[in-house]
Amino acid sequence: MARRSFIRGTGGYLPERVLTNDDLSALVETSDEWIQERTGIKRRHIAAEGELTSDIATAAARSALEAAGIPVSDVDLIVLATTTPDQTFPATATAVQAKLGMTGGAAFDVQAVCSGFLFALATADSMLKQGLFNTALVIGAETFTRILDWSDRGTCVLFGDGGGAAVLQAEEWDGDKLAGVITHHIRTDGTKSDLLYVDGGVSSTGTIGHVRMEGNRVFRHAVTNISSAIQSIYDETGLTGDDIDWFVPHQANKRILDGVAKKMNIAEEKVIVTVQEHANTSAASIPLALNHAVRSGRAKKGDLILSEAMGGGFSWGASLFRL
Ligand code: UT7
Repeated sequence: MARRSFIRGTGGYLPERVLTNDDLSALVETSDEWIQERTGIKRRHIAAEGELTSDIATAAARSALEAAGIPVSDVDLIVLATTTPDQTFPATATAVQAKLGMTGGAAFDVQAVCSGFLFALATADSMLKQGLFNTALVIGAETFTRILDWSDRGTCVLFGDGGGAAVLQAEEWDGDKLAGVITHHIRTDGTKSDLLYVDGGVSSTGTIGHVRMEGNRVFRHAVTNISSAIQSIYDETGLTGDDIDWFVPHQANKRILDGVAKKMNIAEEKVIVTVQEHANTSAASIPLALNHAVRSGRAKKGDLILSEAMGGGFSWGASLFRL
């Protein structure tokens, strides 16, 4: 018998305010046609004034707990992936812990930008398997639009705010190895940090800074890096694209996720695409897409799910799990 973690429920939350591509064309020289053609994005959600990353994360967590039918009193770990914390410290995860009314356990943040959810999932899964905790909330939540330069059309049209969550629970298991959370391959390359970064920070400028990106170069690295992480999963498990029920990629650009799916032999109808609804929500995009797949009735219990992401750092990775 060994411990294994299982996904018990998913949840998501998008702020009420919607900003369309046409709204953006009043701010910068862009068009609905350009944005849709190059990215697949139609609209994004913007956090209300005073609405914090922890509020978004808490809403997503509550919805995941409700779907799982698990009371918050059972949760003993929160791992929150975010690039846009409420404050420099304490960790935003501890604000979520307080807002949920949790008095025990541990809560901390993980920073891997758009790959954050996969890094958080791998972290929580490892801790559950080791027996350090039993029930974890893995959350990706962002108020990413607060670090955008609204005069830079190369970035401001691409991102949005939101949050998604999954409840993970450990079980003693001696059944099928391809059950529950199966494997992760996560990677970083710090030599490419100048292609996607924020031009501010606590110990550098003392300011929050704004997102800067060489989009075209990031695009090319994204397809290569993500494909290599997925190939590592194929090599480790002996599976191929045919064995996957659903592909739940990071939602940055429809052209990237289509390109990766094609390269890795995953049929188009298995690809979950939500980027049109909320743009790139960084660490929130995978759990939002996963939650959509589940709640729309497409992904069902027992389905095999492959997920991937790529973000600043560079950071990237892929995860395989069964619902
Ligand atoms: O999640 C984190 C990882 N990030 C990503 O995965 C993003 C990766 N990159 C991308 O998604 C794409 O590179 C973009 C969507 C950012 C850009 O698409 P592209 O096809 O790579 O366009 P480009 O950067 O090569 O720019 C093409 C043209 C340029 O004009 P010129 O130089 O050809 O005259 C840009 O100035 O499009 C122009 N452009 C725009 N035009 C209208 C750039 N942004 C805009 C815009 N509206 N918003």
